[in-house]
Amino acid sequence: MKTTTMTLFASVLMALALPVQAAGDPKAGHLKTSMCAGCHGIPGWRTAYPAVYSVPKLGGQHADYIVAALKAYKSGERNHPSMVGIAGSLSEQDMEDLAAYYASSYSGPAN
Ligand code: HEC
Repeated sequence: MKTTTMTLFASVLMALALPVQAAGDPKAGHLKTSMCAGCHGIPGWRTAYPAVYSVPKLGGQHADYIVAALKAYKSGERNHPSMVGIAGSLSEQDMEDLAAYYASSYSGPAN
């Protein structure tokens, strides 16, 4: 009886954990980075228009952090104009995919 309860408990835990692991697809995310690379893909993490300013590095960042940041821009909790505009056009799946890509495949400054 005790074993049955434990097995049941373990399967419930696994069922809860699965969607979190499966949420972001790095390959799909890579295809969506074309709209980010203009700002986030520049060596030295700077953009030159309308003025030279620094842009945070995304490669190697934690996926959860990236998703949380994007949601915060979309909700207006973070209010940088460029990112509010970008995040507003992303679905939750886009955010998960992009985060999975940036978290998993950092391969140098041009990323
Ligand atoms: C027009 C330039 C521009 C584009 C395009 C852009 N970003 Fe950003 N992004 C910025 C700037 C500037 C910041 C810093 C904003 C701030 O200070 O809050 C930023 C911040 C972020 C942050 C928060 C990073 C941190 O360390 O807190 C994330 C995550 C992010 N961008 C993801 C993306 C993704 C994903 C895309 C493509 C879908 C994208 N950005 C496209 C300019 C851009």
